[in-house]
Amino acid sequence: MSEAVAWDPDQYARYRIYRDRPALDLMVQIPADLAPRQIWDLGCGAGEQAAALAARHPQAHVHGLDSSPHMLEEARSLKADVTWVQDDIDQFSPHVAPDLIFTNAALQWLPSHAALFSRLVGLLAPGGVFACQMPLSFSQSWHEKLRETAAHGPWAEKLSGARGVQPVARAQDYYDWLCPLASVDIWTTTYLHVLQGEDPVIDWMSGTGMRPYLQRLSDADEREAFLSAYRTRIATDLPRRADGTTLFPFPRLFIMARRHA
Ligand SMILES: C[S@@+](CC[C@H](N)C(=O)[O-])C[C@H]1O[C@@H](n2cnc3c(N)ncnc32)[C@H](O)[C@@H]1O
Repeated sequence: MSEAVAWDPDQYARYRIYRDRPALDLMVQIPADLAPRQIWDLGCGAGEQAAALAARHPQAHVHGLDSSPHMLEEARSLKADVTWVQDDIDQFSPHVAPDLIFTNAALQWLPSHAALFSRLVGLLAPGGVFACQMPLSFSQSWHEKLRETAAHGPWAEKLSGARGVQPVARAQDYYDWLCPLASVDIWTTTYLHVLQGEDPVIDWMSGTGMRPYLQRLSDADEREAFLSAYRTRIATDLPRRADGTTLFPFPRLFIMARRHA
């Protein structure tokens, strides 16, 4: 089993307005005629979307599942009408078939998507909906440069086994895997985030994609040297503009699959 990523809810929440947008864009595409009784938010993080789903579907039993105790602690503090479950998505095996599986920015952390996605959609009740969003960041220059920085430097050996964000499959692969089971709608959106501050890309990445690397660098000087090497690498692609902003293009993949009745 790969090393668990240590999530920090406060760091992750720093870019909440940007991270919420795709989750909401996904949520509004859930078919309006769906009247779910069993809802699961897989990789629910700090729980905001599970709470929103509970408010939107008051007749449903909503569950938020996540492997991170820190994220779930934050989620519990929302006092939402949600059952919080600490578990691994790979082990997800509900007693009652879900009518809605919602999963935002989580499945990119898991391997073997052909089997995983078919299994999750196969768990749905007939007519149930699988709604998923994943970042397409693996092939972006700022992720390539993160891997490059990790592989070249005095930290290379320490970081060689770190399992960062994995590449997701092509949109047409998800379509092929899911269409025997469901009606499938897939789209991509690139958000152009306008970030403020001195070091916004590093700050953003420290909340997600950089965590598997940073958690292996316990020495503060080594960490700073690593960040400085990364900062130099991304400076050309993602410069801070004269007005102080940094434009951060962020592509995301959306999948909405409705299980055949
Ligand atoms: C980027 S956060 C997204 C959180 C939330 N869905 C959101 O959009 O704000 C990814 C979440 O997925 C969870 N996660 C990653 N791999 C997981 C796994 N195998 N099982 C359960 N949760 C997992 C992490 O703990 C983290 O809370």
